Amino acid sequence: MRRTHTCGDLRSKDIGKKVCMQGWVRFSRDHGGVEFIDLADSYGITQLVFDPEDVPNGSDRNEISEVLRSFTRESAVSVDGIVRKRVKGTEDPKNKTGDVEVLITKAEVLNRSKTPPFEIGDQKESVLPGEETRLRYRYLDIRRTEMSEALRFRHRFLSAAREYFDKSGFVEVETPMLTKSTPEGARDFIVPSRVHPGTFYALPQSPQLFKQLLMIGSMDRYYQVARCFRDEDSRSDRQPEFTQLDIEMSFVDMKDIQDTIEGLIAHVWKKIYSKKLKTPFPRISFGEAMSKYGTDKPDLRYGLPMHHITEIVKDAPYDIFQKVLSKGGVIAGFNVKSEIAKDRIGRNEIDRLIEFVKKNGLGGMTWMRATKDGLDSNIVKYFTPDVLSKLRKKMDVKENDLLFLLAGPEKNVLETGGTLRRKLADDLELIDPDVFKFAWIVDCPMFETDPASGKKGAFHHPFVFPTTPLDAENAGGASFDLVLNGSELGSGSQRIHDPEIQKEVFRMLGISEEKMESDFGFLLEALGYGAPPHGGIALGIDRMISVLLNKESIRDVIAFPKNKKGQSLLDGSPQKVDDEKLEELQILSIAIDDINIGDIE
Ligand code: AMO
Repeated sequence: MRRTHTCGDLRSKDIGKKVCMQGWVRFSRDHGGVEFIDLADSYGITQLVFDPEDVPNGSDRNEISEVLRSFTRESAVSVDGIVRKRVKGTEDPKNKTGDVEVLITKAEVLNRSKTPPFEIGDQKESVLPGEETRLRYRYLDIRRTEMSEALRFRHRFLSAAREYFDKSGFVEVETPMLTKSTPEGARDFIVPSRVHPGTFYALPQSPQLFKQLLMIGSMDRYYQVARCFRDEDSRSDRQPEFTQLDIEMSFVDMKDIQDTIEGLIAHVWKKIYSKKLKTPFPRISFGEAMSKYGTDKPDLRYGLPMHHITEIVKDAPYDIFQKVLSKGGVIAGFNVKSEIAKDRIGRNEIDRLIEFVKKNGLGGMTWMRATKDGLDSNIVKYFTPDVLSKLRKKMDVKENDLLFLLAGPEKNVLETGGTLRRKLADDLELIDPDVFKFAWIVDCPMFETDPASGKKGAFHHPFVFPTTPLDAENAGGASFDLVLNGSELGSGSQRIHDPEIQKEVFRMLGISEEKMESDFGFLLEALGYGAPPHGGIALGIDRMISVLLNKESIRDVIAFPKNKKGQSLLDGSPQKVDDEKLEELQILSIAIDDINIGDIE
């Protein structure tokens, strides 16, 4: 390799060295005949200089000058030179190589670049082109320091994780990509089989069943950096193709799994930030998270808990509350303490918040301000002094605090409350981006009911070990989530290892004996061969990295993500397939619009 240094290497101690640098021409400028070039690679930027009046012996001024003419932006080039101190006053303290420059003695174009579709620099988002352009030319986008640093951070995270698993006796095992549907709640991507026409593989939504089979196969400490596929609508925290750090262990209980993950994250923390991470993480029950924060993935970087006051105000003759209560609704509220509101919520702001609440599914919002004479609002007259006093106590009200009260069906109050809490935190700038608050959400339900269809589904997945009788009204499951700063990073559980209990859960989910056999027969059979008690977890790596780097979207930490419509703008997939290929697969592809229903028989 001719390259002696990367563009991030040179410092004052290198002054006088002969170097060979290779990289991309980022910017060049001419200062009265002296040419300055910023040479970049993914380690940094080094200033090159060509001064026709100051060419070292043995170098050909004209030849260098000629070559530099072809140094177009983003061309790959090679330069030999001598490191020298920059002229006093022209140092760039923001750049780690900013004390020095390389005086060019020889230059060569390795590969000339066309004019790039956008300028690659360390621009802030505002001057970047739209994301679609960045995704179309992702390889150029990755030349930006912000992107390449995100990928390097991701690598450091995963290599520290691998180190931890290695020292803890875990074995990485690859599970199949061409497989059978795994029920993780999304649609499958399916792959046709040529050899068995009319049959399909599914790409794994997760390695769930295979990792359980590995436990039955005695591989008692498993992990995998596993690619998962889910055909669901993209969001900022969802991709159709994403990566899980997937873990499974035998002869363990929930606490063992949580301890292992805390150990893992603490190890990674030490490696990446050289800091000790406080463990154990707090445990919050699912019920408490929902009632206090209106979400099962609370952001614990700020307070603003929701207070439930239905019992206190239930007899107040206030029409709106009475209507809600007569339909079985609830009343809950926030106390925006004067210390955090700091006079920033005036009448106009309150009106805007009321509009926000309306847009988010509730009829409106009542508010009160605490003055030195008590609570002040146009609805105070409906509350007796006793009710007001209980309200003050329950909501910890002090002078100048502002109370927001939400009334409605419980589900709406919790959801809207959670969204309002987040908005208040944003508006009042309560969120410190440098703080990371992990928590375990525990005591989760076993089942959930789909509000639209009324159908019972698994709260996590159907393999979670039940912690109560299955027919109990609020049956519980041995599952838990890991949350960080308002994002769900992972889910785990103790699994069912008894085939009879597994069948019972399938039955509760309305799965027929036939379907059980056809979809899960292999699992039920395997559980019958002395399956050990086991459990595990999967952490969403894309989410974890994007939260740690404070990115808006997981797309910013994935090298080649799909856009919001699930397309890869870089290679143009998904794309139509030649008729010939389809014929081989015995598949007929017709756009629905082209079908004349009468033709199908
Ligand atoms: P779950 O479905 O909760 O559990 O997934 C675990 C974690 O994977 C991440 N994740 C995603 N990330 C990006 N895009 C997506 N479409 C996406 N879907 C999920 C999330 C989530 O918390 N087999 C179980 C785990 C187990 O029980 O061991 C599972 O897959 O961060």
